[in-house]
Amino acid sequence: MKGIVLAGGSGSRLFPLTKITNKHLLPIYDKPMIYYPIQTLVDAGIRDILVVTGGKNSGDFLRLLANGKEFGLKHIGYTYQEGEGGIADALALAEHFSDGDKVCVILGDNIIEGNIRAAVDEFCRQPSGARILLKEVPDAGRFGVAEIRGNRIVNIEEKPRHPKSNYAVTGIYLYDATVFDKIRTLVPSGRGELEITDVNNAYIGEGSMTFSYLDGWWTDAGTFDSLLRAGNLVAQTRERAAQALQQAGT
Ligand code: DAU
Repeated sequence: MKGIVLAGGSGSRLFPLTKITNKHLLPIYDKPMIYYPIQTLVDAGIRDILVVTGGKNSGDFLRLLANGKEFGLKHIGYTYQEGEGGIADALALAEHFSDGDKVCVILGDNIIEGNIRAAVDEFCRQPSGARILLKEVPDAGRFGVAEIRGNRIVNIEEKPRHPKSNYAVTGIYLYDATVFDKIRTLVPSGRGELEITDVNNAYIGEGSMTFSYLDGWWTDAGTFDSLLRAGNLVAQTRERAAQALQQAGT
């Protein structure tokens, strides 16, 4: 399976932090934000990775990530999103790279504690369709929200005022190659973007969407509060791991 990190967009909610740099280059504790989603893909066993960037600082991604050696990769690819036409618009740029394979897509501002390997393996066994990862949150209205009946998702609403569940759709998506045909049918939403939620609802409509629950903490990092939370969560997790190591050694 191939991996795609979406790191375009303007990061307007983090202005002026994003006035002179790209959101995904900002620090989360001791690393630039983009390191975390790349590591998530690598930890899931994915070695063929494309980064979609955009904006005025896209060259900095190449300087930072180079050939991906720091992540144990032999190579890393880059492409460029003109403007900020939405998550599905950024993903459309990966069609050539995917070359008919299944893809694991992760948003460049999504940081997780755990590992998505089990979900990726499940999706490899799934003949076709899509799989998304859900997480129970206290503030579902900030995200895409899944309406679940029995063991099926029947609809996803993007940032609903009255969420139908507490389950946010995280920014980790597993798709078969038909995703690019589905994107071609989209029209821009009220906020002028091609919405990934519309892509997911297309899979739900054809009955080929499955889901997993994400273990461990999950956060985005696209607002001042969530950026701070992400840094704190990473720091706490590191501290706990260091303490556990110390205890094991004593
Ligand atoms: O974090 C999960 C949420 O991400 C989902 O629950 C929502 O359904 C999904 O729409 C998205 O919501 P946001 O409004 O938080 O997405 P945002 O516009 O902040 O974009 C998230 C990332 O997607 C961003 O860090 C980079 C990438 N992106 C976004 C846009 C708008 C692009 O690569 N290009 C774009 O044009």
